[in-house]
Amino acid sequence: MDAPPEETPQPETAPLDDASPRLQSRRDFLKTVATASAAGIAGVASAQTPVKAVPVKATPPPVKAVPVKPPAGATPKPSAPPKPSPTPRPTPVPASTVVTGATEFRLKLNGAERTLKLEPRTTLLDALRETCGLTGTKKGCDHGACGACTVHLDGKRVLSCLTLAIAAQGREVTTIEGLARSEDLHPMQQAFIDCDGFQCGFCTPGQIMSAVACLKEGHAKGDDATIREWMSGNLCRCGAYPNIVDAIKLAAKGGRA
Ligand code: FES
Ligand code: FES
Repeated sequence: MDAPPEETPQPETAPLDDASPRLQSRRDFLKTVATASAAGIAGVASAQTPVKAVPVKATPPPVKAVPVKPPAGATPKPSAPPKPSPTPRPTPVPASTVVTGATEFRLKLNGAERTLKLEPRTTLLDALRETCGLTGTKKGCDHGACGACTVHLDGKRVLSCLTLAIAAQGREVTTIEGLARSEDLHPMQQAFIDCDGFQCGFCTPGQIMSAVACLKEGHAKGDDATIREWMSGNLCRCGAYPNIVDAIKLAAKGGRA
């Protein structure tokens, strides 16, 4: 029998630096694959949409509280505890000065001393008419609107319906009855007669008392408008105003021509 031929032993692996054609082709293959992979990755990256960078707002740093320093030389005061509100004291009530009951007082009425005893709330108008019997002074409105109650208090015209009788204490009161001297009429009374300065006569005492004061005040020597203005507090339901103005102008000239 023939012996089997001896096989030539072949190395299973060869070093990489082997320059055999088979190993050389493997190396080239690996290079090719590596190059292709790098090219593919680059292609994918270039095909993607570029992402825009979003600016991030910077957050401001927190502000630190700076303690306020007191002015130089000032001594810091410790905060005082709240004081309790004081208890309100009752307001002392003054002793009453209200005069009640009939009160006696003196005054000068049409040149004569008189003593009256009246309730303090009595008006001068009621005192003249009801107590003194001087009814020449008229009560028209009793509210200070018509002038029918005009009298003189210390020579100045007042509305007696708005004046308390006790307010005339120690003073001089003149009414229409006190103008004439005996049988001689006052020049203003005569002027009213001469100029027909009245009709029914209800307002006439007040008109004459006011006209006398108007003349004394120096308002009777102006024009008609001035006289009307200064006599506007005396109303006449009969409308005798033009004749009243004529009477005042005549009295201002000294009376009868
Ligand atoms: S009664 Fe005094 S103003 Fe009329
Ligand atoms: S005259 Fe009659 S109210 Fe004056």
